[in-house]
Amino acid sequence: MSILTRRRLLRRAALSATATAGFSPAGAAVAAAAAAVTAGCDTPPGGDPAATLGAGSLRFPRDFGWGAATSAYQIEGAAKEDGRGESIWDTFSRTPGRTRNGDTGDVAADHYHRWAEDLDLMRDLGLRSYRFSVSWPRIQADGTGGPNQRGLDFYRRLVDGLHERGIAPMVTLFHWDLPQSLQDAGGWENRDTAYRFADYADAMFRGLGDQVPVWLTVNEPKTVVQNGYLGGHHAPGRRDPAAAYLVAHHLQLAHGLAVRALRATGSTARIGPAFNLHPCYPADDTPAAAAATRLYDGYENRLYLDSVLTGAYPADVLADLGEDSRMARGITDGDLEIISSPVDLLAVQYYTPIYVTADGRTVRRWATSEAHWQQIYPEGMYDILTRVTRDYGPVPITVTENGLPCPDVLGADGTVDDAGRIAFLRDHFAAAHRAIVDGVPLESYHVWSLLDNFEWAEGYDQRWGLVYVDYPTQRRIPKHSAHWYRQVISDNGL
Ligand code: FCB
Repeated sequence: MSILTRRRLLRRAALSATATAGFSPAGAAVAAAAAAVTAGCDTPPGGDPAATLGAGSLRFPRDFGWGAATSAYQIEGAAKEDGRGESIWDTFSRTPGRTRNGDTGDVAADHYHRWAEDLDLMRDLGLRSYRFSVSWPRIQADGTGGPNQRGLDFYRRLVDGLHERGIAPMVTLFHWDLPQSLQDAGGWENRDTAYRFADYADAMFRGLGDQVPVWLTVNEPKTVVQNGYLGGHHAPGRRDPAAAYLVAHHLQLAHGLAVRALRATGSTARIGPAFNLHPCYPADDTPAAAAATRLYDGYENRLYLDSVLTGAYPADVLADLGEDSRMARGITDGDLEIISSPVDLLAVQYYTPIYVTADGRTVRRWATSEAHWQQIYPEGMYDILTRVTRDYGPVPITVTENGLPCPDVLGADGTVDDAGRIAFLRDHFAAAHRAIVDGVPLESYHVWSLLDNFEWAEGYDQRWGLVYVDYPTQRRIPKHSAHWYRQVISDNGL
């Protein structure tokens, strides 16, 4: 890998989703970001969206899967209960200086104990779909061997409870909490981890299979690559570009092996990957910016989409990494066939666009939020959804994450006024609706997140939930956005 490539890859890490402020683009951009928080959270961007859209005019398809999403490490807590082993996020968050305020997921939103109350909240919201993840170390404390029955029982209770309330479960198998023992054996740099993942997936398919209609394999492999191995601000905290893309390959392989494991059980459940896609736009209209944007898009999107949906890694990215890269050397015969095993659906997570300059840097164009890597651009939702359908055909799509962090406070009247989140969601729902009208087979939409939770390196400072969590008491208070969302769901539109 050339020094230039190495530099560029490390720079890319600065941009990644869920970056800490320390890794955000420096200087003016951060100042602009701070100023724009107001634009993101207090004022509906572009005026009153209800007026812009024509209130009541957007109807979604019948049975549209309105939902919300969470992940295990971010909400469950109960870090040492019922045989749960250590994950890399336990190690990382307990390491001084790694997370804001030294926050950990030890207690989080205490969902492990409050799950029934949380399911009632979902029912009251009218959710039709709930996307959550399984904590791998609850099922296999050290990442291998027979499943821990107490861990399986927890998820069985959850899944049964969802069905009882008329909510469809959508289960992510890996949302970043790798068992620490597997990390000690090399983590995702070790090809064997992909096979360990397939075994764990098989245990889940057999343990819950008939009750789960949709499985998602790996959540945002790109974030593991960019934040875990380029920026190092996520577990396992490495800064090693050569390792990063070998990790990308093994995550893709793990995905494909899990797809095959599901098929081998004879299950009729559906399965697919969960990718955070960033539409990339040239920052100006020079040919050099167009070329730089194309390559950027390769690293952000095509690396993951092409391998699963076309059976090949993008040639420009492979060439840029170099034919002698650890990734290239790690690809063995038959891997791409496994990775491209047919999927039933694609989960798309959209938060932000990226604008690329002629020399491969990125610039900010729109208002940001408390998450400085985010630019608020609803049109990007339309662009990325229609692009996937145009470039890869009519694979069914679910949006499994989209949302906004706001400086939410519990008011004296006991409510949480998050008008900015409502405006954000309204504009993104409208963009998704337009994509459906233009032929995108979008079947469901999950707001990130159901609850305020542990936002990785940002700890508990960023609040992304529809429901406010008062951490000292663990009381749940539906924000204004939750009440608004209930109405959207009941109207099946805006
Ligand atoms: C995504 C993650 C999710 C959450 C949101 C804000 O990248 O998948 O866990 O952190 O960002």
